Amino acid sequence: MNVTALAFRLLLLVSPAVFTMNLAASEMPSPHERLLLDFGWKFHLGNEWGFAQNLSKAGTGSGPASTSFSDASWRPVNLPHDWVVELPFDSTADSGHGFKPVGPGFPQNSVAWYRRTFDLWETDTGKRLWLEFDGVYRDCDVFVNGWFVGHHNSGYDSFRYDITDVANYDGKNIVAVKVDASQFEGWFYEGAGIYRHVWLVKTSPVAIAPYGIFVYSVFKNNIPEGPATILVETALSASTNVTSATKVNCQIVSPEGKSLKTFDNSIAASSEPIVALATEIDSPELWSPESPKLYKLITTIAVDGKIVDQKETEFGIRTVAFDPDKGFLLNGKPYELKGTCNHQDMAGVGSALPDRLQYFRVEKLKEMGCNAIRTSHNAPTPELLEACDHLGMLVMDENRLLGSDAANLAQFEGQIERDRNHPSVAIWSIANEEFTVQDTPAGKRVAATMQTLLRQLDPTRPITYAAPVGDDYEGNINSVIEVRGWNYHVGRDMDNYHREHPAQPEVGTEQASTVSTRGIYTNDATRGYVSSYDLNEQPWSNTAERWWSYFAERPWLSGGFIWTGFDYRGEPTPYGWPCINSHFGVMDMCGFPKDLFYYYQAWWTDRPVLHLLPHWNWPGLEGRNISVWCFSNCKEVELFLNGQSLGRKTMKPNSHLEWMVKYEPGTLSAQGYDADSKLIATTKIETSGAPAAVQLEPDRKTLNADGEDVSVITVSVRDAQNRIVPVATNLVDFDLDGPGKILGVGNGDPSCHEPDVYLPTWPSRTVAINDGWRWEQVTNVYKPDLPEEKTDVDDSGWAKADPQSPTGPLEGRSQGVFRTKIQVTGQELDAESVELCFGMIDDDGWVYVNGQKVGESHDWKSSPAFDVKHLLHPGENVIAVAVANWDGPGGINKGVTLRLGEKPELPQWKRSVFNGLAQVIVQSSKTGGEIKLTARSEGLTPNTVVIQTRSGPLRPSVP
Ligand code: GAL
Repeated sequence: MNVTALAFRLLLLVSPAVFTMNLAASEMPSPHERLLLDFGWKFHLGNEWGFAQNLSKAGTGSGPASTSFSDASWRPVNLPHDWVVELPFDSTADSGHGFKPVGPGFPQNSVAWYRRTFDLWETDTGKRLWLEFDGVYRDCDVFVNGWFVGHHNSGYDSFRYDITDVANYDGKNIVAVKVDASQFEGWFYEGAGIYRHVWLVKTSPVAIAPYGIFVYSVFKNNIPEGPATILVETALSASTNVTSATKVNCQIVSPEGKSLKTFDNSIAASSEPIVALATEIDSPELWSPESPKLYKLITTIAVDGKIVDQKETEFGIRTVAFDPDKGFLLNGKPYELKGTCNHQDMAGVGSALPDRLQYFRVEKLKEMGCNAIRTSHNAPTPELLEACDHLGMLVMDENRLLGSDAANLAQFEGQIERDRNHPSVAIWSIANEEFTVQDTPAGKRVAATMQTLLRQLDPTRPITYAAPVGDDYEGNINSVIEVRGWNYHVGRDMDNYHREHPAQPEVGTEQASTVSTRGIYTNDATRGYVSSYDLNEQPWSNTAERWWSYFAERPWLSGGFIWTGFDYRGEPTPYGWPCINSHFGVMDMCGFPKDLFYYYQAWWTDRPVLHLLPHWNWPGLEGRNISVWCFSNCKEVELFLNGQSLGRKTMKPNSHLEWMVKYEPGTLSAQGYDADSKLIATTKIETSGAPAAVQLEPDRKTLNADGEDVSVITVSVRDAQNRIVPVATNLVDFDLDGPGKILGVGNGDPSCHEPDVYLPTWPSRTVAINDGWRWEQVTNVYKPDLPEEKTDVDDSGWAKADPQSPTGPLEGRSQGVFRTKIQVTGQELDAESVELCFGMIDDDGWVYVNGQKVGESHDWKSSPAFDVKHLLHPGENVIAVAVANWDGPGGINKGVTLRLGEKPELPQWKRSVFNGLAQVIVQSSKTGGEIKLTARSEGLTPNTVVIQTRSGPLRPSVP
């Protein structure tokens, strides 16, 4: 805790509750709406439209950015969406990014467009409107109604654009987002696309500013005894001059839902003030991973007694500190960090995780005894922090890049302001392994500037840097950073460092990097597998046992974070192709535990743990010695093979036991005893028979029918006695029936090149409409209601035109109308989409079908397409195009077609099991009902699982 900064902040606060304002939270509805904008987007991979942003004229975005562009044949997608998980693997692509053909060298797969329409009405005028993006990977341009509204670089931080001025308040609005993942940000799988939520926010002109609420608690001496002082800062934003007094009312609600305190403050007219308030809570219920108690702050803003905004903010009351001798302190007591670093991707979905999967992953980590996550190496999605707040998981919230340039500081500031109310966030990290600059004077200065910014924005938490530098200090970022972070280097140098810098707290920001493949017990470079015994350390890293024993013995080290909790795509250390994902995880990419999971569970939980490895299916090795390991926290363990004792051994803390066992098929079992020789745990592994059946086990059998909720279904191949076959590799087909869909599949095999996602195909055919075109010069195509654009026009005397020629008949700086009649059949109009496509309209064009305008084109370089399904009828139809040509010859050129999109052809989902297991992620739709998932595999008994989806209140979303 930085006491000076805290004292300074406290001085700014006025005394609480001097004003009384009767604004009970539920009295009046707040005009603030935050609507999810995830459903009903259209997606197109590729960018055939050159520069979408017209720099010469405002509001005239071209290609998909234009309002009249047709996306009728684009693929429908819901967010979050990652298009990289849909790409095949490619041995020539970057290994760090998981051999996915995206980024440098793959321009065809690196730029994509998203479009979404939504309605606004008269009743929305006068409100402030924002589009909020939780995260888009990366370099995106956002257009609203043809207007460019903003560009955002990083793929990891949240951003927003005010669209009040450019919105249409009488119906349709169009958002178009161009996403460009041509450049990597990290050295690991990053995905691409709008992979986090998007929101449409409507507020009053005077409202709580974005991230405008900061609520935190302090105790005397940072020890949670006696009352907690709750400090609330509320930043207001006003798009108009506020001439009246503004009141801020706060209500605190207990974890049990009881209103505890109401207090308020008021400020005189001003444009962007911060209102500071404080109150006290006696005997607060403290937040911790073991007891994640959450309070609620309800902030209500009123101008002239009228409520203009209201917001609920969850917060926790707790203290954190890093002590040079006692390590990490939570609520005043030493609390060892049993952490994991994690990237954000998962099997089946890439980086686009529905919210439930954040909870799924945090639950898995908690099961293994993990109490802290490092969001390596970037700002997390807000929903991960919500899951950590609710389930009880501490967080090291890491910034992407070291830098004190304006853009980087603004990004870091946004991350801090967005995340600082989360009780789970215990410490910030300014960056990871900045090899080139960490030892330079500039690197030190930049780190110090970032640290200063952080202390201004958050006086309650410390900061670290994930340093890969042994005991370097002088000239290094380590000499300025508050908490020394250690990436690797377990050894004598840590003790030296501690002796030499006794006042600096320390933490293991990144440790272990032990590699293992689930269910594999020998290293196999050809197939790209590493054994699951705790033996595979890399030159810079350690086995689980080595790093943890070392840290566990040194309380001043605060514990540490393993690299990593889950496998992730990319970094297939120690191999390359065909291996496409990492082996660092304690769990694989699906979240299936590897053997090391039980090592950590044994030493990171108090539950009795008893786990044996390897599996016991070794035909052909009869009579040969097999090394049997036991991960356990029992005091003594006795091992048996087919009922015969192989001896009882005593467990050394933080280690494992080993027996050499002559293999014979059957049952390997163990009994675990406590210090009083009481039997506290038993386990067994049996030699399984041949695969006989496939089995499906959902993690949840009831889902919300909200189009977001997911069930994670474990697929296992079983023998005739229902035992998992630990070496099975059967290919399984999946069929889903009912109101849901399969989102993705996986199996945790780091060398598997089967798709995670099966996409429908959208066949289309084109009908040329190059005949019968005539044209005539006109003087002003900008005039509305040109008679030449109407249906009943006698154009028989007009000149003939050939729309297939590379240039049109119009001379420079002249204008004309082009017309033709086409015959369309009812069968053609039954197509899913019908688009009128032009090779080129040179320069500006206004397109009419049967006298009705379908759109405009203002980019001669692009090939515009217009959605005309609703305007055509069976029989004869008239097409008219008014064209204004500028320089050189112009007109309509390069051919005209009707593109007819057929109904999608649905794919067959499938996945092989890897060492007996695979995973299917099933997502609900907004319709309640029964989802049936059936798994079939040749020669095996199939299995069907039923998942109920229940309709309930949906979170507010844009229709
Ligand atoms: C670290 C790095 C991580 C990951 C890891 C693999 O040095 O911070 O991002 O690459 O090595 O062991």
